[in-house]
Amino acid sequence: MGEKISVRSFFYHRNNLYCERVKVNEIAKKIGTPLYLYSKNSICNQYKSFKEAFSPLSPLICYSLKANSNLSLLKILKNLGAGADIVSLGELFLALKAGIKPEKIVFAGVGKKEEEIQEAIRKNVYLFNVESSSELRLINKIAVQFKKKVNCNLRINPDIDPGTHQYVATGKKESKFGIAWDKAIEIFKNNALPQIKILGFHVHLGSQILFPEVYESAIKKVLETVKKEKIKLAVFDLGGGFPIEYEKSVPPIKNFARAIIPLLKELKIKIIFEPGRYIIGNSSILVTKILYLKRDFVIVDAGLNDLLRPSLYGAYHRIVPLRKSLEKTFVGNVVGPICESGDFLGKKRRLPVSLKEGDFLAIKGSGAYGFSMSSNYNTRLKLPEILVSKNRYKIIRKREKYEDIIK
Ligand code: LLP
Repeated sequence: MGEKISVRSFFYHRNNLYCERVKVNEIAKKIGTPLYLYSKNSICNQYKSFKEAFSPLSPLICYSLKANSNLSLLKILKNLGAGADIVSLGELFLALKAGIKPEKIVFAGVGKKEEEIQEAIRKNVYLFNVESSSELRLINKIAVQFKKKVNCNLRINPDIDPGTHQYVATGKKESKFGIAWDKAIEIFKNNALPQIKILGFHVHLGSQILFPEVYESAIKKVLETVKKEKIKLAVFDLGGGFPIEYEKSVPPIKNFARAIIPLLKELKIKIIFEPGRYIIGNSSILVTKILYLKRDFVIVDAGLNDLLRPSLYGAYHRIVPLRKSLEKTFVGNVVGPICESGDFLGKKRRLPVSLKEGDFLAIKGSGAYGFSMSSNYNTRLKLPEILVSKNRYKIIRKREKYEDIIK
């Protein structure tokens, strides 16, 4: 299997930031900045700790590609046994290309198009997480053409507040996601669509959920109804949403497992999880160079087009110098070069006074929804991605070129 837990992913040694056994500074100088840097060790540890925590359920772990769909990273996860939670044909293409078997792929999304459903059926994905009765009818129509029986889960909107940022809360009544309770029960019980096999329910409550109780109450809500309505589930997909530490510490995955496992173990059905952030979030840093120091601004070469989370959600990412200094600190705003005042990576951050123009900073926790949400805004090139494994590193995505953006 592999990697020893003792290899450290990101740490300081003699005041220099290392990723595993490679000095980050050397990569920054060699490749140029900005760049995304991943630790293979961290990805493996995160996946294994998730698997281990939930092992009593022997779940299918469908890594959520939207968090980060770099092909080399997907191959690592595939080799660890991961399936895939996909939301587009692009993600289907990548999951298959990484070697993930179709029977480990689940297809979500509130707006699946006809050609997407066709292609997913053609490729034999394991199931569709269905968001409406119209979608179910469309899947049936296409399944008839293919002469195939198609597995579906109904995504329920359990009307639960996960206590996260409103943009990533998906299980509340006001959100566009899922099918209302009573409607889902009705569809489940009365399904007469000949090519549709409804296996069970899907809930995804939101992202960066800080309290295990949120899962607990959603599961209880589902199971109470299942019991009352005498529904026979074959599959229960709990989605993703497991948190990582950005600023403050979060409960370990074991606490989530402790809350969830007892509720599901007795059912003896197939359990699916769709973690994204938990696997990849803290497995990466964004390395950026200080261009200018001006008033209390630290102007760096990465901007909101490279990492949107701070600007979009007010998300906090730790920012640390590649060379640690124990000297005095100052409070500065780390901002990018984009022509918008909302282009910041960190506000009011404590940084060493010794920082100079030309020095490098690392933006931590940037692996999930970092590169995957990046854009060409201001006609800037998408960043390279580098993977470190022990004392070696390789480029797993080249920096975009100007020719690429006029193709
Ligand atoms: N399953 C479904 C159906 C989802 O919609 C999502 C994420 C996941 C699984 C994975 O969730 P995770 O384990 O990563 O929390 N851009 C936002 C996060 C959006 C999440 C969208 N759905 C951010 O940067 O925080």
